[in-house]
Amino acid sequence: MPSFMEPFRIKAVEPIPFPTPGERREALATAGYNLFRVPARQITIDLLTDSGTAAMSAAQWSALLSGDESYAGARSFERFEAVVRELTGYPEVLPVHQGRAAERIVLGNVLGLGDISVSNTHFDSTRASVEAVGAEAVDLPVPAYEGVPNPFGGDIDLDALAELLTGRSGQRIRCVVLTVTNNANGGQPVSLLNIAGTRKLCDTHGIPLYLDASRFAENAYLITEREAGYTDSTPREIARTMFDLADGCWASLKKDGIANIGGLIALRDPELARRCVEQVIAFEGFPTYGGLAGRDLDALAQGLIEVTEPDYLRYRAESARWFGEQLGLAGLPVLQPTGCHAVYVDAGLLLDHIPPHQLPATAFANELYLAGAVRVCELGTLVFGRPGDTGGPDIPAPRELVRFALPRRVYTASHLEYVVDVAEDVRSKSAQLRGYRIVRQGGALRQFTAALEPV
Ligand code: F0G
Repeated sequence: MPSFMEPFRIKAVEPIPFPTPGERREALATAGYNLFRVPARQITIDLLTDSGTAAMSAAQWSALLSGDESYAGARSFERFEAVVRELTGYPEVLPVHQGRAAERIVLGNVLGLGDISVSNTHFDSTRASVEAVGAEAVDLPVPAYEGVPNPFGGDIDLDALAELLTGRSGQRIRCVVLTVTNNANGGQPVSLLNIAGTRKLCDTHGIPLYLDASRFAENAYLITEREAGYTDSTPREIARTMFDLADGCWASLKKDGIANIGGLIALRDPELARRCVEQVIAFEGFPTYGGLAGRDLDALAQGLIEVTEPDYLRYRAESARWFGEQLGLAGLPVLQPTGCHAVYVDAGLLLDHIPPHQLPATAFANELYLAGAVRVCELGTLVFGRPGDTGGPDIPAPRELVRFALPRRVYTASHLEYVVDVAEDVRSKSAQLRGYRIVRQGGALRQFTAALEPV
């Protein structure tokens, strides 16, 4: 029996498809063996992402109806702004249509050609925004030691940061970005101790610190579970302390906004905010709606209140932990400890007969689809590798991870049990799996459009 219980009951349901094995084979081949290109109507359990996939609450659906669709100065914006100010303490609040718009606008204002942005790990779209202005994205995650679980594996390496700041390229650093939780590094949290240490270094060198706060509530909850001295604090209090330590944040609200679209810029600096407003107007819309409908802002305002409820966050962490344990019992190498938004499996360990340039994580993900119409996300060489310099094999990613992301409030324990059964089936035939080669690819973010074929 699962060790957790969903803290909600179900009021509206949506049927899920059950494609046959033949339909799955055909759908995958037609998609160029790229799960991003498989239509959702051919997927039984979709763990591709926790982004924009949440089930809204009855209170959010009801908030939708009070959406004010005025072009300028809508009541919906006032409600959204009040909730964000109360949560973050930042006076300047700008809605945008999703996270990458926020990144593009803030980083485009902070960085220029030849500058450096340093992070615990830039998410792939964040890195793309840094590189789009000709700047360099430097990742300094804390070192991982094989088999030694780190409760704050999302931290930035403070020694390496101090060294970089005082070294030759220190003058080129324009910002430090802490991604909370660290999605590209196992969905692990960043501790308050680490955020405070980063703040101190930033102060010494006069550099602003921003949070990519897309999963701020999950980071805050994991701090209450794991960081000494904070077990009696509420996730909302911790979140406020995190925001207090930074100069501003941006977020994809498709995660901890518990809604299907939305993004946010929130800042202390009125001058930077003024420059961002100009770009929001040019690329997103009037600054009181930023590319969203009034009703989206209302649903988000309500979502940002619900997301810090301790019962909800406890369920989020406990369900991920239980799911990770079950996958582990099924013989899969699960990254420990699990975070909240996903369970990560090291497909490189499981498929060590497939070299990185033949995409072992993709091979594993595709087989999960063929075996049970389960869709997960590869975070291995297809996403984080780079095409080889002289037409040689790809430069591999550090690890061949597969992410089983957990949409918020969408799947029950019995759905997850089904996924565990499918994963066990794939593990039992892992020695027979073969890799893939890329037959067509774009530039940045190639994973979304690449076409592959089995080796
Ligand atoms: N920052 C982080 C940490 C993210 O995880 C994402 C998106 C973004 C920024 C960009 O936000 O999608 O609203 O434009 N992550 C999704 C994922 C896509 O599946 O992890 P967006």
